[in-house]
Amino acid sequence: MTVLIVAESYFGNTRTVAQTIASGLARSLGAGAVTVVRPGEAPHELGTDIDLLLVGAPTHDYSMPKAQTRIQAAKKGATVKDGIGIQEWIGRVTPRADLRVVTFDTSLEMRFALGSASKAAYKALKKRGFQKAERGESFRVAGTAGPLVSDEESRAEAWGVQLAASLCT
Ligand SMILES: Cc1cc2nc3c(=O)[nH]c(=O)nc-3n(C[C@H](O)[C@H](O)[C@H](O)COP(=O)(O)O)c2cc1C
Repeated sequence: MTVLIVAESYFGNTRTVAQTIASGLARSLGAGAVTVVRPGEAPHELGTDIDLLLVGAPTHDYSMPKAQTRIQAAKKGATVKDGIGIQEWIGRVTPRADLRVVTFDTSLEMRFALGSASKAAYKALKKRGFQKAERGESFRVAGTAGPLVSDEESRAEAWGVQLAASLCT
């Protein structure tokens, strides 16, 4: 079983969530089965060896990050490594209709109800042709730069364990 996690992150919180989900998955699948990459380094062709794709990002302006919100994040002290995020990557990747894809995000607790990167990514993936896309979990941060709200890391690890179990049934 092979899992690819494509995670966009500016202050490190979504990356931490991605790595924690990966460690939950790796408990039963083994560390070699799970890879975490940034959108800028993610492949545009998804090999048939990939059994599950996870796509995660921080919520920016109730949706997925875009060029303008990356600039705003940088002004707030974030590290912006690539010019592309999951939104642009979804536009470039060749869709696999048979592949299960699950989205996730990090969001500020109070604004979550108005929209999330997870919901927007799920819709974009469906539109792109990933017929088996699902909207997954949102993980809460306490402020723009984080940290993750307490217990969110353990929830991420537990979700990874649960996703691994769903692959093995
Ligand atoms: C430009 C910008 C817009 C944001 N808009 C939202 C938003 O609409 N809703 C929300 O819950 N959080 C919003 N946030 C907070 C981000 O969700 C938070 O910075 C992110 O979860 C941190 O993840 P990261 O460390 O992976 O970048 C915004 C942050 C930035 C920088």
